[in-house]
Amino acid sequence: MKQGKLITMDEFTIQETRKFPQATGELSSLLRDIGLAGKIINKQVLKAGLVDILGKHGATNVQGEEQMKLDVYANETLINILKNSSDCAGIASEENDDHVCFEDTFSANSKYVVLFDPLDGSSNIDVNAPIGTIFSIYRRVSELGKPCTMQDFLQPGNRLMAAGYIIYGSSTMMVYATKVSVNGFTLEPSIGEFCLSHANIKVPENGKIYSLNQGNTLKYSDGMRAYLDYCMEINKEEGRPYSHRYIGSMVADLHRTLIKGGIFIYPADKSSPKGKLRLQYECNPMSFIVEAAGGKGSTGEGNILDVEPTELHQRVPIFIGSKNMVAKALSFLYPVTA
Ligand code: AHG
Ligand code: MN
Ligand code: MN
Repeated sequence: MKQGKLITMDEFTIQETRKFPQATGELSSLLRDIGLAGKIINKQVLKAGLVDILGKHGATNVQGEEQMKLDVYANETLINILKNSSDCAGIASEENDDHVCFEDTFSANSKYVVLFDPLDGSSNIDVNAPIGTIFSIYRRVSELGKPCTMQDFLQPGNRLMAAGYIIYGSSTMMVYATKVSVNGFTLEPSIGEFCLSHANIKVPENGKIYSLNQGNTLKYSDGMRAYLDYCMEINKEEGRPYSHRYIGSMVADLHRTLIKGGIFIYPADKSSPKGKLRLQYECNPMSFIVEAAGGKGSTGEGNILDVEPTELHQRVPIFIGSKNMVAKALSFLYPVTA
């Protein structure tokens, strides 16, 4: 990249979509809408530490407006922006029980639906650690011109058109993946634009970090415990144990994994036989991003992206990150017997 030349996310997306003559520009507009929601949410996240002064959820501020919890605020911001744009036929959100169809003529004629986890890692808000927004974009399968249907939202990850996240961290970034590449854009606050900062991200094939909630060890399977022992002993590949890092915010743990390599795991355990994380809001978009960057995402039994969703809020176990680390972890869980 030429030094000194800022490329905004919009410019980049438009340049990229020009490579596909059949593109109508709707996907670019949708990414711009999501980026706009991210900037608005970011403004609120920056004030999170002042919540005791400005008023908590349910309290009324001096302008007579009711203060909202950040995850409710993030959810409403995304829904309002996507509803008012003409590029989205409907949404499904981790915060809503059911999907929502936008029934005005423009929305009903749009090709895409969006799913999101409006605020991921919300338990980290109080301690000022990174949090994020995760999103998925599917081409709808229902008839254009009619309201969208549940089937539009229950598509497997291998049918995703794009997915990404916004991380509200030491800087604010938007990362999005198409089938072709993964690119990261850092918010330049003085101009209020996401600018290309991490072009063509590739996950290293090997890594040195394992990331999971080790406090759950007693609930893990024997295979998982054997893998943990392997991570903590001096292993042949590294000549030292792996490092353990766990922020407890999937966006932040996966962002590190994407850039530095490593493995992130939220397995099934005795109290959560299907794992904790949600297929449609967390695991599919993150697997799509990681696989587009050359990594791997597995449920332990198969590729995450191949799981046929049966309900909006279903959970799956996840092993995701550097492809050689994921393969190694799976070899402990499902040893091949000749
Ligand atoms: P959310 O804040 O959207 O509910 O998601 C929290 C998730 C995810 O971000 C994180 O990886 C995981 O919960 C952490 O769970 P544990 O506290 O059980 O480790
Ligand atoms: Mn989440
Ligand atoms: Mn959430």
